[in-house]
Amino acid sequence: MKIIKLNAIGSTNSFLKDLAHNSMLEDYTVAVTNQQTSGRGQMNNSWHSEPFKNLTFSIFTRFKNLHINQQPYLNFAVSNAIFEVLQSLSVPQLSIKWPNDIMSGNQKLCGILVETTFTNQKIKNSVIGIGLNVNQEKFPSHMTHASSLKNILKKEFDLDEIMHQLVEKIQLYVSKIESQDLESIHKSYLKHLYKKDIPTAFKDERTKLFFMGMIKGVDTNGNLLVQLEDDSIKEFQIKEVSLAKA
Ligand code: BTN
Repeated sequence: MKIIKLNAIGSTNSFLKDLAHNSMLEDYTVAVTNQQTSGRGQMNNSWHSEPFKNLTFSIFTRFKNLHINQQPYLNFAVSNAIFEVLQSLSVPQLSIKWPNDIMSGNQKLCGILVETTFTNQKIKNSVIGIGLNVNQEKFPSHMTHASSLKNILKKEFDLDEIMHQLVEKIQLYVSKIESQDLESIHKSYLKHLYKKDIPTAFKDERTKLFFMGMIKGVDTNGNLLVQLEDDSIKEFQIKEVSLAKA
């Protein structure tokens, strides 16, 4: 593992993507920064994190034999890896909120942004971006659903130590993908799924209307399976639906 430490940068994902474009990066090159000035989240959202308090880092990985249809497994694997590290720190009520937020109860601790390049139907390489709230204590009012390890476990954590644990676990899970151990990755992701089998409010992102349903699973294409009030099961892609805030 090669670590590039940056004091400040727009986005560690963008930084590593540019670097990978212009040079031959070693597998598991990590870029970590004390401060992101334009951190990016899923679906073109921005990612805010108090400077010096939290982990904001990205990992570059190369794949030899991963079909583009298998990209969801990469998201499952990274979520599982982070889940396990946080579990080892005794974070209570952990779950994975589809597609890949790591939650403690109804509070979000960690966001993941995986960005991938393809050639000939194969995933060439990926940049796995992770924002984990570690020692931040106060969150702006528009982030009422965010929390940190410190707020939950009432102690400070060493950022470097947690980052090493995360990178090692991600490395382990990603190698499981390479050896095509896909079913077990999918299974453990499903085991940890937030709000599974619990009546939940959803927002249809197209019509902006709310509806009730129950999460039944996530298929191997990464789509959310929701049981509707008439008992039918509907499949939603990432941009089509969101879970209403609890
Ligand atoms: C989300 O929950 O929407 C995903 C957030 C991902 C944030 C991380 S922080 C490090 C890396 N660099 C970025 O610009 N984003 C990811």
